[in-house]
Amino acid sequence: MDDLGHAMAGAHGPVRMLGGGNPAHIPEMQAIWRNRMAAILADPPAFDRMMTNYDPPIGNARFIAALANLLRQEFGWNLGPENIAITAGGQTAFFFLFNLLAGEFRDGRRKTILLPLVPEYIGYMNQGLAPGLLRAVEPRIEFLSGHRFKYHVDFDQLAVSEDVAALCVSRPTNPSGNVLTNNEIHRLAAVARAAGVPLIIDNAYGVPFPGILFRKADPIWDENIILTLSLSKLGLPNTRTGIVVARPEIIRAVASMTAIVGLANCSIGQAIVLPLVKSGEILRLARDVVRPYYERKSHLAQEWIAQFFDDGLDYHVHVSEGALFLWLWFRGMKISAETLYSRLKERGVLIIPGHYFGVGPAEDWRHGHECIRLSFAMDETSVREGIAILAQEVAKGYS
Ligand SMILES: Cc1ncc(COP(=O)(O)O)c(C=O)c1O
Repeated sequence: MDDLGHAMAGAHGPVRMLGGGNPAHIPEMQAIWRNRMAAILADPPAFDRMMTNYDPPIGNARFIAALANLLRQEFGWNLGPENIAITAGGQTAFFFLFNLLAGEFRDGRRKTILLPLVPEYIGYMNQGLAPGLLRAVEPRIEFLSGHRFKYHVDFDQLAVSEDVAALCVSRPTNPSGNVLTNNEIHRLAAVARAAGVPLIIDNAYGVPFPGILFRKADPIWDENIILTLSLSKLGLPNTRTGIVVARPEIIRAVASMTAIVGLANCSIGQAIVLPLVKSGEILRLARDVVRPYYERKSHLAQEWIAQFFDDGLDYHVHVSEGALFLWLWFRGMKISAETLYSRLKERGVLIIPGHYFGVGPAEDWRHGHECIRLSFAMDETSVREGIAILAQEVAKGYS
């Protein structure tokens, strides 16, 4: 991450920033945020509530009540305000949850979080207060036509030993754009329940919002599932608003951690989004604005890959089922993804080499060193030019 920042700051020519996870600036969403801000400014009591009062550590009561209603109505989940806590972004939610459930305990026991399918979100990797917090299982790979592939959970390798404190998946997955099938997510929920541990589902990209999901996949929640959401990929990353949906004792623990670490959360994102959650408009925006915007960008990026890449190379693109990224696998390439990253950086293209998305045995996994993550959220010129340069460097990497 540091290196990406330095590369951006020190660049002499144009930089195609395909490495970060920033959401796109969608004009229709930007206009909604500006209008909401104007409406709050024009309403002095609302402005004062947003700016001049600490919320309780658990989050804003009005926002939490509205969200509980929405989730109940939309999905029929049996939950109330006692099942929801706000955090300073999803990232903070994971720091709290991982260290709450796993790590070193007073009696000397150590517990780990099991990632049933890597590659998985880079932001989980260094969250442990104690080393060895995460353990991962490599996926089963399904090859598809047209240089495409898809990961599946390898249930034969998924052993939930005594020291596992929780299972955790992102759905859609950052970095691969994979979406665990309904069958996979229900099996994972059953495996977790049988082992007496929670299943954490990171919904930074999925439904009901932000809705960056290009295939049908049913959301799931019950008392044994900890679901996280965020306002970031809806277009409000700087409001730092994460949401945890879980059983009440976990919610109370998360709220206590907020109180200790940060006293309270920022209210601004919750205030901006509140009427959209109350009216359900947030669902329409996710479905009719955010999803089609990213789906189109994903299609364009895939078309450019097909156009610029040499069809004779053994390259594979993970099926793009959601999130902001394409995940590319250069099987048998003679240079590593790290070398490819350096060569691309020299030419003003930033991507992320794949080995950062692995953990445990998967860290040294050859596959990770043959993959890269590329964001298609940036402007079309940057993505198109970036993919054209990538195709040239990959061709050299194979020769
Ligand atoms: C899978 C996943 N989870 C969580 C996060 C954290 O996002 P935030 O802290 O902005 O809510 C991200 C951000 O990119 C992500 O990709």
